[in-house]
Amino acid sequence: MADRRPVIAGNWKMYKTSEEALALIDELKGLITGVDDVDTVVAPPFTALTVVADRIKGSNIQLAAQNFYWESEGAYTGEISPTMLLSAGCTYVIIGHSERRQYFGETNATVNRKIKAALAYKLVPIFCIGESLEEREAEKTFSVLDKQVSEGLENIAADDVEKIVIAYEPVWAIGTGKTASDEQAQEAHHFIRKCVSDLYGKDIANVVRILYGGSVKSNNIAGLMVQPDIDGALVGGASLTASSFAGIVKFKIS
Ligand code: 13P
Repeated sequence: MADRRPVIAGNWKMYKTSEEALALIDELKGLITGVDDVDTVVAPPFTALTVVADRIKGSNIQLAAQNFYWESEGAYTGEISPTMLLSAGCTYVIIGHSERRQYFGETNATVNRKIKAALAYKLVPIFCIGESLEEREAEKTFSVLDKQVSEGLENIAADDVEKIVIAYEPVWAIGTGKTASDEQAQEAHHFIRKCVSDLYGKDIANVVRILYGGSVKSNNIAGLMVQPDIDGALVGGASLTASSFAGIVKFKIS
C-alpha cells in the first residue's frame, strides 16, 4: 500500500435523521477512539451535517458531504454550495457517485466542474468512478475508467490532483453483496493509477489515494487493504451501524 495514509469513508446515503445520526456518531466515536493511523470520514445527509460536526469536534473523525453545487451562492433552488459545506464543518465532499450519475444526470463534465470547485474551496474531493455490469461484461471496464479519469480531471493542475481521493466503485458491487475479488479490485486500481500516471507522471500517481467501494464489510476489508494500489474504502451499508464501520476502520487490528 506504499506509504499512502489509508482513508476509510462511510457514505450514509439517504439514511439517518439528525437524531439517528447523533446516535450513530456517538457510538462510533467511542468504538474508534485512539485510531490515529487512518483518516476516518463520515458523510451524513445534508440535514445532519451540522449536528454531526458538533459531535466530532476534537475527535479523529472528519466530515464529508455527499454532493454539492459548484457556485458559491445564488438563485439555485435546492442546491448547497461549497461555502455552506465549509461552514457546516466539512473537509471532504463526495463527487460523482454512481447513484448521482445514474439518477440525477451527473456526467464526467459536471463531475469535472465540481472537482474544480471543491479544490478551489479547499474541500478534498472524493472523486467516484466505476463501470456498470454491462460495461464489464462487454469488456469495456478499462476504457470507461480511462474516460472517467481523463474527463473528470480535465484541466486540473498536478499539484491539485495530489489532493484528490479517487474512489473506484464498480456499480455491480454496490449494495449487491457482490464485492469485486481482491485481484479484480487491485487490477482496476492499478489501471486507474496508470491513467493518472499517464496524465501527470509517476510521482503524482504514487501519492493519489484510491479507495475501493462496493459491499465492503469488516470481513473483507483486510484482503482488499493488502493490495498494493488499494488505499482505503468508501463504505455504504456497513457504515450505517457503528460496530460494523468500526470493524472496517480498525482493519489492522482485527
Ligand atoms: P455498499 O457498501 O452498500 O455496497 O455501497 C457502496 C457505496 O456506494 C459507497 O459509496
